[in-house]
Amino acid sequence: MKKRLITAALAGLLAVSMAGCGGQGASDKGASGEAQNGGDTIGVAMPTQTSTRWIADGKAVKEGLEKAGYQVDLQYAGDDIPTQTQQIDQMITKGVKLLIIASIDGTALTSQLQAAADKGIKVIAYDRLIRDSPNVDFYVSFDNYKVGVAQATSLLYGLGLTDKTGNPVDDAPKGTLNVELFGGSSDDNNAPINFEGSWDTLKPFIDKGSLAVKSGQTAFAQAATLRWDQATAQTRMENLLTSTYGGTGEGLSGVLSPFDGISRGIITALQGVGMGPTIEKGLPIVTGQDAEIASVKLINDGVQFSTIFKDTRTLAEQAVTSAVAFMKGEQPKANDTKTYNNGVKIVPSYLLEINTINKDDIKSQLIDSGYWTQAQVDAGQ
Ligand code: BGC
Repeated sequence: MKKRLITAALAGLLAVSMAGCGGQGASDKGASGEAQNGGDTIGVAMPTQTSTRWIADGKAVKEGLEKAGYQVDLQYAGDDIPTQTQQIDQMITKGVKLLIIASIDGTALTSQLQAAADKGIKVIAYDRLIRDSPNVDFYVSFDNYKVGVAQATSLLYGLGLTDKTGNPVDDAPKGTLNVELFGGSSDDNNAPINFEGSWDTLKPFIDKGSLAVKSGQTAFAQAATLRWDQATAQTRMENLLTSTYGGTGEGLSGVLSPFDGISRGIITALQGVGMGPTIEKGLPIVTGQDAEIASVKLINDGVQFSTIFKDTRTLAEQAVTSAVAFMKGEQPKANDTKTYNNGVKIVPSYLLEINTINKDDIKSQLIDSGYWTQAQVDAGQ
């Protein structure tokens, strides 16, 4: 319910318009039912290779589609919006039969998606919802609100205010602990939803005085980090340390971070003023997301406290299953048809589960499942 309100508010629209439904119907004429392995090409547009998760996503989607008998045009856009729109234009011109898109700016693809719909090309939004278009046929992702809840719960656990699952503990520290909050990129639909999940989880602790955001920067717009960029996060953390924590970080106990790259920028800033270098030696609790190998090493070394593991193999698998269904002229199976309003319509979605990773979860969750090897964790790459 809460998520629905958030997405509706984000959309700036409270109703699903009939025009939206009509748009979807219009694109149905493209459901061709061509032979599954007739050598058709599927376009896969990914945002950036600066993060290991997107490299793993692209590789897994490509391999899955190839196994299903399709050719794949996989493109990365270097986090540059015009590059991504151009890549998608080209894919359409070259005659791809379906598009799988992890967008950079979720609002920038309206004309590309219209061109795709005009040609009967189905569009699957991958991990990030594409907004303001009736021509998004399906969405595969994780529960982005739950990611935010898990990040905040992990911060509370690291600070000793709750147990790992978020339940109160008897020996919680007395007094007020200072934290600072970081959000993701404001043009990514996931980012405000993540932040909302975190805020809803932290707010009761702020209200009862166990936590404070000393800088006062609690609004998403103040906390947001354009393009989820590590250097941008590092600079904001350095500024916060100077403006609010006497240039030394004294009195800062934790930082909510929505993504491992941002976490590493924050940690560099904290260590840069002499904090830590490990949690044991006084480094604040820093959360994360994506189980990127560089951060998994930091968690293993007692530097970063946690990350949220979103198994990109299962997401890729879901994208492939959904793509194959569309290519056969069928409707993919959704497990959520209420939450994700993209501003024009509610996009049928398949949402996957997430896991929080602390140091003692690395082996069971990441190594035993074959996501990373022990050698990669030791090397951080
Ligand atoms: C994804 C996150 C990722 C972030 C930065 C978001 O859209 O959901 O998993 O950390 O982008 O790449």
